[in-house]
Amino acid sequence: MRKLFVNIGTLAGIVPEGLLRKEGPQMDEVDAFENAWLLVEDGLIADFGDASRPVPDNADEVVDARGGMVMPAFCDSHTHIVYAGCRDGEFLDKINGLSYEEIAARGGGILNSSDLLHRTSEKELYRQSMERVGEMIAKGTGAIEIKSGYGLNPEDEMKMLRVIDRIKRTSPALIRSTFLGAHAVGRGYTHEGYVDAVCRMMPDAARYADFVDVFCDEGFFTVEDTARILEAGAAAGLRPKIHANELAVSGGVQVGVRYGALSVDHLERTTDAEIEALRGTSTMPTMLPGSSFFLGIPYGRAKDYIAAGLGIALASDYNPGSSPSGDMRFVMALGCIRMRLTPARAFNAVTLNSAYAMGVSDVVGSITRGKRANIILTHPGWNLTKIAYLHHSPFISSIYLNGEIQ
Ligand code: NIG
Ligand code: FE
Repeated sequence: MRKLFVNIGTLAGIVPEGLLRKEGPQMDEVDAFENAWLLVEDGLIADFGDASRPVPDNADEVVDARGGMVMPAFCDSHTHIVYAGCRDGEFLDKINGLSYEEIAARGGGILNSSDLLHRTSEKELYRQSMERVGEMIAKGTGAIEIKSGYGLNPEDEMKMLRVIDRIKRTSPALIRSTFLGAHAVGRGYTHEGYVDAVCRMMPDAARYADFVDVFCDEGFFTVEDTARILEAGAAAGLRPKIHANELAVSGGVQVGVRYGALSVDHLERTTDAEIEALRGTSTMPTMLPGSSFFLGIPYGRAKDYIAAGLGIALASDYNPGSSPSGDMRFVMALGCIRMRLTPARAFNAVTLNSAYAMGVSDVVGSITRGKRANIILTHPGWNLTKIAYLHHSPFISSIYLNGEIQ
């Protein structure tokens, strides 16, 4: 099946084969063709060109882009979208002045979601989660990492991982799964006892999960707990992705780097030592401006990381407690408005680099021959700057995942 997109005003986000992430000055580059065409064959990008090359004439179907922009679909490398219900009561507590930590200390927060999840059937959990996946796809996301971490006991963590696995098999989006047993201490456990339990869950979790994560932060898990859990993860073949430095300078970045983390995420509170620790590593610093926005905490120092020669990724952190939105266009806009990233930098952070941060930048995240045809077709007249600037005006004309319209 050959599908040809013609009359593309701008084909943005072209990346050479084999370039898996952008770092330092590369963050400023977005390669594009004007007046372009794009050929998709069996769901993959087969070829593309501008007016200097003849438009192929052997397509089975032709899509007229009417001068709109074609860009890679967003990749969201950090979400918690498998959860039950929501926490609207805590939203009122927050408005009335309680902090994220105070809500958690009163038995709300992650433990509240864990109680709700325990009472919800696997089938219903899948249904609610797929609704969120559908919402994210409609907003232009084509790849999603999803974490466990609201189970907090062996049975419920496995329930979550099975739901993520079912989403992986049934959604047109590319899904990666992360075991975040160490999200909070489960009810009925001592802190030590729970860290032991998470290590014991690892072999079972590894049957479904692609990665292991730990909430290494003040009031949650220490650097020592994290090292133990990452050792157990490594023994089960799981590479880390770490929650670090959201609530305090936690040491989470350094322990993540020590264990070869694919990404270290949050980073709202970092010193120059964290930036230094990341230089020359394969770990992607990932910032979650939706949580900074919702919690009213600092934004990550994205520009300092780029000035130090590093790449950064941006992700939504979609979850019921600190970032109740999976809108990656809004994430991109926050990157520009609040973190002072140029639209080009924010775009690279929500596409190729976010794909890298979930281990899939060889198959999605850019316009590259052989990659999945996960693309956004915009209305005419849109460009990357306007997407961030006019941050809530509808810009998407259609979304294609694996070359199929959604
Ligand atoms: O990434 N920081 C820890 N975990 C989530 C919040 C989860 C929740 O509150 O339900 C986060 O912000
Ligand atoms: Fe998170």
